[in-house]
Amino acid sequence: MVLLAAGALLFAAAVGIIWLGNKRSRRERSEILKIGVLIYKEDDTFVSGIVEEMKRQFKDYERESGSRIRLDFSYAEENQSIQNEQIDKYLSLDYDVLCVNLVDRTEAAIVIEKAKSADVPVVFFNREPVAEDLQQWDRLYYVGSDAKESGTLEGLLVVDYYKKYPEQLDRNQDGVIQYVLLEGESRHQDSLIRTEYSVQTLVDAGLILERLDGGIANWVRSQGEALTTQWLKEYGNEIELIISNNDDMALGAIDAVENWHISFSNIVGIDGTPQGVAAVESGKMIGTIVAGQEDYAKVLLDLAERAAREETLDGLDIREDKSVRIPMYSINCDGEIRRLEESRKEEN
Ligand code: GAL
Repeated sequence: MVLLAAGALLFAAAVGIIWLGNKRSRRERSEILKIGVLIYKEDDTFVSGIVEEMKRQFKDYERESGSRIRLDFSYAEENQSIQNEQIDKYLSLDYDVLCVNLVDRTEAAIVIEKAKSADVPVVFFNREPVAEDLQQWDRLYYVGSDAKESGTLEGLLVVDYYKKYPEQLDRNQDGVIQYVLLEGESRHQDSLIRTEYSVQTLVDAGLILERLDGGIANWVRSQGEALTTQWLKEYGNEIELIISNNDDMALGAIDAVENWHISFSNIVGIDGTPQGVAAVESGKMIGTIVAGQEDYAKVLLDLAERAAREETLDGLDIREDKSVRIPMYSINCDGEIRRLEESRKEEN
């Protein structure tokens, strides 16, 4: 028994020594910090906007924070195995932190395992791992927007529009709003939740709805155009509202409407990309939700650095689930801006 206990103690000590040996030393701000940014695909408009912002901001960020940073980007062609290899590469090159826009948000566990065994923190963003995955290790975080909030704000855009211009929305004056719905990728948290809350907000406001059709257009403008064209052929003037889970698919719907040579602008989107906002400003859409790409980039750089350098995260507004949610607001074709807090206050 004594021998066994001594053996167990020796084993535990050896494991501890190996673990300490693997643990990276804390880096000071004067030392260069290597950040690897992994993106699910190259041509996603909203995510590209975040990438551009990171590139644009990081020199200023270095100046303001007094740190030295090296930032590298990899694109995974929508293939999780490719992304896993890219992660291996960054880890073997001794990167200090990874910002990961997962291809498959249900496959975070393998990424976490790799990062954890190299003791490299991970900031996931935009494509949200399931809650249990984020709890697997204390050096994991998520930066994203709140899907429920964006869906609700999108619904409120339509409610407000209806209050102001009822006859423009209920075009056939039958007291029912006939709508179609453009959805993002089927497994993406933002598709499911935005769809649910945008529609529920309309119902809660007392609008009577009839869903004519809906379909998945994977966030992509051309797919949004193709589906809308199909619906225009099938339902024509019956369509009174097009709800889209993002701006690019809404822009696709506008393309379809323009090709169809009809006057129709009862379309709502989410993201607030420059193209989306321009369409709202020119009256081609009722409105969009701006989920600030600038803020996304700022928070990502800041959180990645602090996580890597093991500094305090105070002031970053991290929620209990280890996420930072980027604030958002809606903008409509009359140039009005609103945040959810304001809407709630008005209701009470
Ligand atoms: C969503 C965004 C989409 C698309 C997607 C990619 O949040 O609204 O436009 O970028 O993320 O994960």
